[in-house]
Amino acid sequence: MNLFDVYPLYNITPVKAVDCTITDDKGVAYLDLYSGHGVISIGHTHPHYVLKLKNQLDAIGFYSNAIQNPLQVELAEKLGKLSGYEDYSLFLCSSGAEANENALKLASFHTNKSRVIAFNNSFHGRTSAAVAVTDNKKIVAPLNAQQVVTFLPLNQIELVEAELKKGDVCCVIIEGIQGVGGLDEGTTEFFQDLEKVCVQYDVVLILDEVQSGYGRTGKFFAHQHHNIKADIICLAKGMGNGFPIGGILISPKFKASYGLLGTTFGGSHLACAAGIAVLDVIKEEKLMDNVNEVYAYFLEAIQQIPEVKKVKGKGLMLGVEFDFEINDLRKKMIIDKHIFTGNANNKNLLRILPPLTINKKDIDTFIIALRETLKEIQS
Ligand SMILES: Cc1ncc(COP(=O)(O)O)c(C=O)c1O
Repeated sequence: MNLFDVYPLYNITPVKAVDCTITDDKGVAYLDLYSGHGVISIGHTHPHYVLKLKNQLDAIGFYSNAIQNPLQVELAEKLGKLSGYEDYSLFLCSSGAEANENALKLASFHTNKSRVIAFNNSFHGRTSAAVAVTDNKKIVAPLNAQQVVTFLPLNQIELVEAELKKGDVCCVIIEGIQGVGGLDEGTTEFFQDLEKVCVQYDVVLILDEVQSGYGRTGKFFAHQHHNIKADIICLAKGMGNGFPIGGILISPKFKASYGLLGTTFGGSHLACAAGIAVLDVIKEEKLMDNVNEVYAYFLEAIQQIPEVKKVKGKGLMLGVEFDFEINDLRKKMIIDKHIFTGNANNKNLLRILPPLTINKKDIDTFIIALRETLKEIQS
């Protein structure tokens, strides 16, 4: 049987990874500045994480959501404390799309309405409602397109308010910082106005922090840079450091009832062990402080490169913008310099999403390699 061929692949076969270094089957070491789409938060194969998972697997890996699982309670308590959302509830699932799917469904149940406001260039995943609120027609099948969604530009609150006034909107969904789209984000004024109009018109505000959450921007959630609170916050990626786990944080205003939401795999013993290990390490190793320190260092260094037109994003969720398409640059960085970076819908943007453990020496390595590669492609 062949694999269904939906991913263009680099001809690299990683066999081992430690912290920010990935080694392939030929023994070549790569610096990981992309974390496999922003997933690796506490570094590859962190010893605390590996030990927790191994021990959990020896004890019990899985049982359904029909029994007591104290690990779910421990995860919820630790997550509430570290994120500042202690009075919210946690529903666990297994991916970012599933988190958004459940958030959208909950908003629709709660308001008994169905239209959604989403933003231009958004990405929220590939399941039915999540892909319908994603601004990319190429990945929306006719089945998904049945959902009623209105896409608006970021930072134009009067357009949002005009839609909410119509009375048929269940929720607004917005990324803390856009990831796949290309690192655009709402201003603080926009986020604060958005919170206000959602309260005013009784519309649920969903913050998709699947990529921008878990300390990646230097605060636990990106929206916390704007001093707002959301009704539902969606999580995944960094939450499990590679173990598939996602979740939604749910405001106390939502009433739970048996069967309202559900999943077979969400919140398994093994997933919770991974989630707890990640939170332990973020807290113990003060990774958010590291994010802020390395971000300042990165900004200073990158702004001295004349070809760099703009740096977008915050913390370690960054986009370096050039006035040319970065495809060749990115390829050369991987093949010649052995550094993984990412791309975005914005073809001129090189995405930088390293593990949150990255240090200044790694940034130096990247800056030197970037300067050399820019010189090579210009000559
Ligand atoms: C902001 C955002 N939301 C949702 C998703 C979907 O997550 P997953 O691929 O785990 O379903 C992604 C994935 O890139 C994302 O960046």
